[in-house]
Amino acid sequence: MLPFVDLKKQFRGREAEIRAAIDRVLEHCQFILGPEVAELEAQLAAYAGVKHAIACSSGTDALLLALMAKGIGPGDAVFTTPFTFFATAEAVALTGATPIFVDIDPHTFNLDPASLEQAIIALLEQDQERHVLPRSGLDRCGKPLELRPKAIVAVDLFGLPADYQRLQAIAAAHDLVLIEDAAQSFGAELNGRRAGSLADLAATSFFPAKPLGCYGDGGAVFTDSDDAAAIVRSLAVHGQGEDRYWNERIGLNARLDTLQAAVLLAKLPVFPDELKLRAQVAERYTQALSPVASVLRPPQLPPGCRSAWAQYSLLTERRDPLRRHLADHGIPTAVYYPQPLHLQPAFAHLGYRAGDMPVAEGCARTIFSLPCHPYLEWDEVDRIADLILEFILSRLWPFPRKA
Ligand SMILES: Cc1ncc(COP(=O)(O)O)c(C=O)c1O
Repeated sequence: MLPFVDLKKQFRGREAEIRAAIDRVLEHCQFILGPEVAELEAQLAAYAGVKHAIACSSGTDALLLALMAKGIGPGDAVFTTPFTFFATAEAVALTGATPIFVDIDPHTFNLDPASLEQAIIALLEQDQERHVLPRSGLDRCGKPLELRPKAIVAVDLFGLPADYQRLQAIAAAHDLVLIEDAAQSFGAELNGRRAGSLADLAATSFFPAKPLGCYGDGGAVFTDSDDAAAIVRSLAVHGQGEDRYWNERIGLNARLDTLQAAVLLAKLPVFPDELKLRAQVAERYTQALSPVASVLRPPQLPPGCRSAWAQYSLLTERRDPLRRHLADHGIPTAVYYPQPLHLQPAFAHLGYRAGDMPVAEGCARTIFSLPCHPYLEWDEVDRIADLILEFILSRLWPFPRKA
C-alpha cells in the first residue's frame, strides 16, 4: 500500500540536518525550554507575520491555552464548526465553556459566516427558530445553561483559511474573541497574510502528519498581543510568574520539548518548497479529474486563498465503492470526518440531533481524501487519477448527479 503521508521519504531528504539537530540537544541536555525552543519561536513568528509565537505541547493545548488566555470558561458560548477534528470543540469544553455549533459553507467546508451571524442573534434572543442552539438547557456538569456569546473558533479545514474578513466583522460587531484553529493550515495564506495571523489568537499543530510536523506531539500559539502572549507563556508553565515557584494562575504543563523544536528547525528550511509541491500535487489531481468534476467535486479555493493542502478532499455520492476500488489497487484514502461533532457521544448532553447541521452531515457522508504530500511522485498522482477515472467512467456510469 502506498503511504498516505510519506514521512520516511521526507526524513531521508533531511536526515543529516535532523540527526545533527537532535545530536546538539543530546550534547547540551537542555531538554526543557532549551535554546532551540526560543529560536523556533522567533522563526515561527517571523514566518506567520505576527509578534509572538509560543511553542507548546500539541495543537489541542495550543487551542486550550488561547481560550484560557482570553478567560473563556463556564457560562461562555463559543461558536464553532461541527466539521473538524474533535479537539477543536474539546478544547472549548475543557475550559468549561459551551460549544455552539454552526454549519459550514458547502464549497470551502469552513464556518459559514451567514449562519454564524444567525446563531449569535439566536442565542442573544433565545430564538431556536432562527438557528439551532443546544436544546438540553444543561451544561456537561448538569447545571442550567445561561450562555453569553464570548468567542468564535474558526477552523482552516484541510489547510484552507476560513473567511476571516467576514468573521472579523462579525466578531467586532458582537464583541467576540476570534480564534483561528490553524492546526491544518500553517503555511496557508489569505489575501497575502499567513495562517496564524488571521485572528486575535491562533493555534497550530505540529502533529507528524501536519504540513509542518515534528516527531511526536507539538503545537504553537500565535498572537500580536503582548498581554495575551505573556499569559499564554505563563499558562504553558503552570501559570508561573516572574519566579519559578510563584504561580499567578492555574495553568498546564504544556511546553514543547527541545528535541521537537530541534526537529522543526531542521525541517523549516524546506517547508516553503514542500508547500509548493503540495500545491502542485493538488493542481495535478484537479486537472486530471476535471472530466468527472460533476460527480466527484474537487476542492474549491476562494479568491485570495492559498491552501497549505493538509488534505486533498473530494465529495462524491459513491464514495465507499470508489474507496474500495482504490484500496484494492494499493491506494489508501481517508475520511475526514465521518461524524460531525454535534452528533458525537461526548456532546450528547447538548441535545443536538441529526439534521441540525445539514451541510456538515452531507459532507461527512460523501467526503474522502486522497494521498497529498510533497513526496508523491507525478506517476503516482497520475496512477491514482487514472484509477479514479477508469472506475467512474467504466463501472459506475451513470452516476447520481449532485447539485
Ligand atoms: C483542526 C484541528 N484542530 C486541532 C487539532 C489538534 O492538534 P493535536 O493533534 O496536535 O493536538 C487537530 C489535529 O489533528 C486538527 O486537525
